[in-house]
Amino acid sequence: PSSVRCHATLSDTYSVEAAELADIDWDSLGFGFLPTDYMYTMKCPKGGNFSNGELQRFGNIELSPSAGILNYGQGLFEGLKAYRKEDGHILLFRPEENALRMRLGAERMCMPSPTVEQFVEAVQATVLANKRWVPPFGKGSLYIRPLLMGSGAVLGLAPAPEYTFLIYVSPVGNYFKEGIAPIHLIVEHELHRATPGGTGGVKTIGNYAAVLKAQSAAKLKGYSDVLYLDCVHKKYLEEVSSCNIFVVKGNTISTPAIKGTILPGITRKSIIDVARKEGFQVEERLVAVDELLEADEVFVTGTAVVLSPVGSITYLGKRVSYGNEGVGGVSQELYSVLTRLQMGLIEDTLNWTVEL
Ligand code: COI
Repeated sequence: PSSVRCHATLSDTYSVEAAELADIDWDSLGFGFLPTDYMYTMKCPKGGNFSNGELQRFGNIELSPSAGILNYGQGLFEGLKAYRKEDGHILLFRPEENALRMRLGAERMCMPSPTVEQFVEAVQATVLANKRWVPPFGKGSLYIRPLLMGSGAVLGLAPAPEYTFLIYVSPVGNYFKEGIAPIHLIVEHELHRATPGGTGGVKTIGNYAAVLKAQSAAKLKGYSDVLYLDCVHKKYLEEVSSCNIFVVKGNTISTPAIKGTILPGITRKSIIDVARKEGFQVEERLVAVDELLEADEVFVTGTAVVLSPVGSITYLGKRVSYGNEGVGGVSQELYSVLTRLQMGLIEDTLNWTVEL
């Protein structure tokens, strides 16, 4: 594949292609993969550091059948989004938070990782190279998927000798087929997503394969997704397959505390700050499944999901509904503040966005 090494000339290199929008139906984006023009790769050789990252035409990659990622799941991913503003400029949302989270996850998975600066620069370069795939204002976002993988060959169980950092992007709309309408969850009481001391708190690829069985069964029964409980007491809320959960009661919003089994979502963290600024009391603590019975509203958050209201939760055959299955007032308010910030419609006093 053709590749471009020098970021300094990136905007010149891509100015012709980037001037136009890709020719797709921007009104029917869901959360499916659409190949774009370029991807970014950077390698870390045995005993070395990540260096010489480059953009390449998007395409398949070559891996040894013995690669650490394929055999032992030594891999992490991240997810972040770029939005097009009304004036056409592009905004990234808190990319250094993803960089930091990848570094923490890499430590847990015995992998070297790019520096925060390398990560953020690579994200910027990849988005600029694929500018024509950033949806028009208000039509969705460009989902950015950084991967970190053990690409070197291993046979015995050990960290791989070589690593690859790769970023690809895809334009997306709503994650759930419900759009911004409320989703319906079922509490899983047999299968678990994470265990104390395990890897539930980092974004390793295996955490996501582990939820497919419960998620597929739930979807077959008509639910949107699964809500997991802690595996020790089978009593406290953890998270949904792809997002964090919040429970609203009066002016108080509670969410499970980060304690190693829950993914520290960047949208979760942002919503906590936004909610406090809006005057809510936010508690990060153990949230018992019984509290779902008393809640006024429940919502989930994630990069892909953004903020989605929950219309009902079914637990051991009993169904509780929220907000007449419409969008609750608190969910609506927080969704609106967060997305207006991400799209550059309100002043970014917290310095969360990065304009390209
Ligand atoms: C994200 O929200 O970015 C995620 O990584 C979840 C993924 C399952 C789509």
